[in-house]
Amino acid sequence: MTQIRIENAAWEFIKQLEVSSEKPLLTQLEAEGVEIPNACRIGMCAACLCNIEGWDTHLNKSLKWEPAFPLWEGEIMTCIWWVTDTDELITLKTMT
Ligand code: FES
Repeated sequence: MTQIRIENAAWEFIKQLEVSSEKPLLTQLEAEGVEIPNACRIGMCAACLCNIEGWDTHLNKSLKWEPAFPLWEGEIMTCIWWVTDTDELITLKTMT
């Protein structure tokens, strides 16, 4: 399990919770009551776009789906990405 700290676009703390490496982040955040906009859930619409620390070392992407367009460093589609198990606290920043 990995600890994830969620902040809004103004860097205000929303919630900290544990997430597993077995489900996409969006699914787990919704289950914990964190609202992330979403529509397609397959990486096509960017509604679920967030920024995250450790994107290059602590994240896996679905092998089934690809984002529909290039992303900037640190950006992920939470519907098709999930974290790997780590002892580090990862910060996710929403776009709203
Ligand atoms: S919900 Fe559309 S890209 Fe994630």
